[in-house]
Amino acid sequence: MAEALLLFLLSYILQLQLEVLGLATSSNHDFSYMKSVYNATDLPLEDVYDYIIVGGGTAGCPLVATLSRKYSVLVVERGSAPVSYPQVLSAGGSGANLLQEDDGKTPAQRFVSEDGVPNVRGRILGGSSMINGGFFSRAHDQFYNQSGIDWEMDVVEKAYKWVEDSIVFRSNLSSFQSIFRKALLQAGVGPDNGFTLQHLVGTKSSGSTFDELGRRHGAVELLNRGVLKNLRVAVEAYVEKIIFSSSNNASRLSATGVVYTDSKGRTHRAYIRDKGEVILSAGAIGSPQLLLLSGIGSVDHLFSLRIPIVHTNPHVGNFMADNPRNGIDVVSPSALDPSIGQVVGITSDFNYIQAVSANLPFSFPQPFGLFPNSTSPLQLSVATIVEKFSGPKSTGSLRLLSSAEVKVSPAVRFNYFSEAVDLGRCVKGMRKIGDLLKTESLEKLKFEDLEGAEGFQFLGPSLPKNQSDDASMETFCRSTVTSYWHYHGGCLVGKVVDGDYRVKGTNSLRVVDGSTFNASPGTNPQATLMMIGRYTGLKILQERRAPK
Ligand SMILES: Cc1cc2nc3c(=O)[nH]c(=O)nc-3n(C[C@H](O)[C@H](O)[C@H](O)COP(=O)(O)OP(=O)(O)OC[C@H]3O[C@@H](n4cnc5c(N)ncnc54)[C@H](O)[C@@H]3O)c2cc1C
Ligand SMILES: *[C@@H]1O[C@H](CO)[C@@H](O)[C@H](O)[C@H]1NC(C)=O
Ligand SMILES: *[C@@H]1O[C@H](CO)[C@@H](O)[C@H](O)[C@H]1NC(C)=O
Ligand SMILES: *[C@@H]1O[C@H](CO)[C@@H](O)[C@H](O)[C@H]1NC(C)=O
Ligand SMILES: *[C@@H]1O[C@H](CO)[C@@H](O)[C@H](O)[C@H]1NC(C)=O
Ligand SMILES: *[C@@H]1O[C@H](CO)[C@@H](O)[C@H](O)[C@H]1NC(C)=O
Ligand SMILES: *[C@@H]1O[C@H](CO)[C@@H](O)[C@H](O)[C@H]1NC(C)=O
Repeated sequence: MAEALLLFLLSYILQLQLEVLGLATSSNHDFSYMKSVYNATDLPLEDVYDYIIVGGGTAGCPLVATLSRKYSVLVVERGSAPVSYPQVLSAGGSGANLLQEDDGKTPAQRFVSEDGVPNVRGRILGGSSMINGGFFSRAHDQFYNQSGIDWEMDVVEKAYKWVEDSIVFRSNLSSFQSIFRKALLQAGVGPDNGFTLQHLVGTKSSGSTFDELGRRHGAVELLNRGVLKNLRVAVEAYVEKIIFSSSNNASRLSATGVVYTDSKGRTHRAYIRDKGEVILSAGAIGSPQLLLLSGIGSVDHLFSLRIPIVHTNPHVGNFMADNPRNGIDVVSPSALDPSIGQVVGITSDFNYIQAVSANLPFSFPQPFGLFPNSTSPLQLSVATIVEKFSGPKSTGSLRLLSSAEVKVSPAVRFNYFSEAVDLGRCVKGMRKIGDLLKTESLEKLKFEDLEGAEGFQFLGPSLPKNQSDDASMETFCRSTVTSYWHYHGGCLVGKVVDGDYRVKGTNSLRVVDGSTFNASPGTNPQATLMMIGRYTGLKILQERRAPK
């Protein structure tokens, strides 16, 4: 009897766990979506759809999959499909992919902000989710209250689950990630939260869009959950601008379509049907760029570029922010297994600490260490420990360098550490990394058996000896700043879009992507971006069913 009860309880608990996690099960890449993918050169020069989505990226893919349940949808994506760049589909190949020379078509478009910090953005169907580190963790609670959106939390929950049971995996921790996890706990980043997708103070392991075999399942696979016959994805197609018309509402202009060019340089026009919409999901650089190119922005800037004004809004392209990435690279005396990030430490000050291990060739010019690379026989095993903090408060701006060419990347400045509070938070995070170096767990990485934080070999700068000294810690933060690639802003909620992501002062136009964030959600943003794509799609279907 007791045994039966125990068994029942056990199976109940197991079921509960499965229900709560509801993750994807290991599977091969699913390329069904290719049935809907067209080379833009093969599409008509003029066409009509219910919805047109600009950018088949991280937020864009779940959005279009959802809208395609009921409506015809055109996605216009400047990059190619992942099959053209198969290295993005594996963790091992992704490092090479990020380091590849940018030929104007490669999936990782490089840019350098005016701060002088190198950066990349996705240029491929699936967007930056196809070139990223795969770490998957939901938004922090405050995000929902501070994002300017009146969230329906049950729909948020459903939207996350929809994403998670499609493309999110839980893998066993690699041996280095276990060492790192232990170090976080020994350095006082507690409690131990085990495995969870939730944002909880303490140490946890989280999900990944890479499965156990290191295969990437990015946002592009969410397209498979749409109705493929209603979906048309144009690749190698650059949207140049949004078409507006005043015919159906004299008081404000309505988006009626987009102009895009294919790889032969031919111009196409796609229009939306009555009650349809144009939705920008071109990312934090692409969406403000397109609003400006289309005549929505500050009078001075548009005037100086001779762009006809559709609606003046000085906030377009403002509040551009990028979370600084600071850290150390520790050379390991013994070989480390390469690992992607599976673990994060979340301090009560909202510093986020993550780590990767990689085998780098001796000739490697500078530490990078996002992805494993184990092809060279002459290697250094390197553990990279990095921190970011939520926010940041420091912001900059984006402006066009050319009025006519969407392919000319806009100039972006993030003004890292221009707000003193950010510098203080970096110092806190780096002190915590200093604590990690004193843990028993990380002694394995020492070359010499010395006390405390002594005995490590660093590739690149080491932490200041005296970590109580604010000035030297601040200098370290400023001089080692790199990008965590979580840049956001440019079309903020409340400034450029309203609480339904509609572009203020226009009709039939929204922006749904990282450009709307006033702070980066969670430890890493992709989970939230995919949730928002799905969420907004559901809300639009709901609105159309029951018009106000
Ligand atoms: C190297 C790197 C590592 C990262 N690691 C992680 C991680 O481990 N975990 C995590 O959560 N986040 C990570 N991120 C961040 C995360 O991937 C991004 O914040 C997120 O993917 C951005 O999503 P988005 O929808 O805003 O834009 P994107 O996914 O970039 O989508 C924008 C899309 O629009 C297209 N586009 C732009 N302009 C045009 C145009 N004019 N016409 C047609 N198409 C256009 C682009 O080609 C792109 O496909 C990382 C990012 C990078 C770059
Ligand atoms: C699309 O068509 C153009 C022109 O024929 C060609 O150069 C390009 O390689 C094609 N792209 C793909 C992904 O097939
Ligand atoms: C490993 O790095 C080297 C040097 O950057 C690069 O040439 C090579 O293609 C990479 N290999 C893989 C599998 O990432
Ligand atoms: C948001 O704020 C409300 C009111 O202050 C609070 O009750 C709620 O718990 C907050 N929600 C989250 C998710 O933080
Ligand atoms: C993960 O760990 C469990 C328990 O040690 C083991 O049974 C399983 O085979 C591992 N999975 C993989 C993919 O290595
Ligand atoms: C025109 O737009 C305004 C502002 O959104 C709206 O209040 C009004 O109802 C619209 N008029 C028509 C005829 O659609
Ligand atoms: C470390 O820096 C603090 C603050 O500047 C200073 O008071 C202290 O004397 C320094 N310690 C050592 C050992 O130099």
